Amino acid sequence: MSEQGPFRLGVLGSGLGSNFDSIAQGCAAGAIPAEIALVLSDAEDSGILRSAKALGVPTSFIAPGKYRTKLDETAEAEYIAALQEAEVDLVVLAGFMRILKGEFLKTYEGRVVNIHPSLLPSFPGLEAWKQALDHGVKVTGCTVHFVDQGVDMGAIIAQETVRVRDDDTAESLLARIHDAEHRIYPAAIAMIAHGEIEQRGRRTFHKVDP
Ligand code: GRF
Repeated sequence: MSEQGPFRLGVLGSGLGSNFDSIAQGCAAGAIPAEIALVLSDAEDSGILRSAKALGVPTSFIAPGKYRTKLDETAEAEYIAALQEAEVDLVVLAGFMRILKGEFLKTYEGRVVNIHPSLLPSFPGLEAWKQALDHGVKVTGCTVHFVDQGVDMGAIIAQETVRVRDDDTAESLLARIHDAEHRIYPAAIAMIAHGEIEQRGRRTFHKVDP
């Protein structure tokens, strides 16, 4: 945590930014005891950058470099430097479409969280809601988890279920998963900012003072 002052979030995203919006609302309402110190994106024209700018949150577009699914070495160093400069306590991935690895995860070990649109460990990877629908499951949902070296593999912090309806399309199912995401991501970040989440191996525990 930074020496003084509130818990500081660094949010990384590539897309629309609806999860960022819900987190920003949570911070503004006092439900999350934190402030958003910085928003970084690998997509210059993304909704998340527009939303953050509109709220007066510091933003930066950092080009990802030569790879399609991860940051190259130069970009990774720039992301780390920007987050360190902003004295970020927790890195929040909100639709960031690059896999984070080596140096980044070493620097922010245990301090990176992600939200995924399925009940992990089912359906990791891209378009998880569509994978779930195509597989024929009756219940899916979303998962907040710590980020480790595996893709969508880290210890689970929170999950919410979403029932699959007979008349669901990929779009209608995704819309309800998004609603659930906007509930559990701010709630999970609030628990972390309060220092209430303890990790032991693959399990996390919500410790609240009696
Ligand atoms: C969410 O569905 C999240 O689960 C996934 O990326 C999407 C981001 O949406 N990791 P948004 O940009 O927050 O609207």
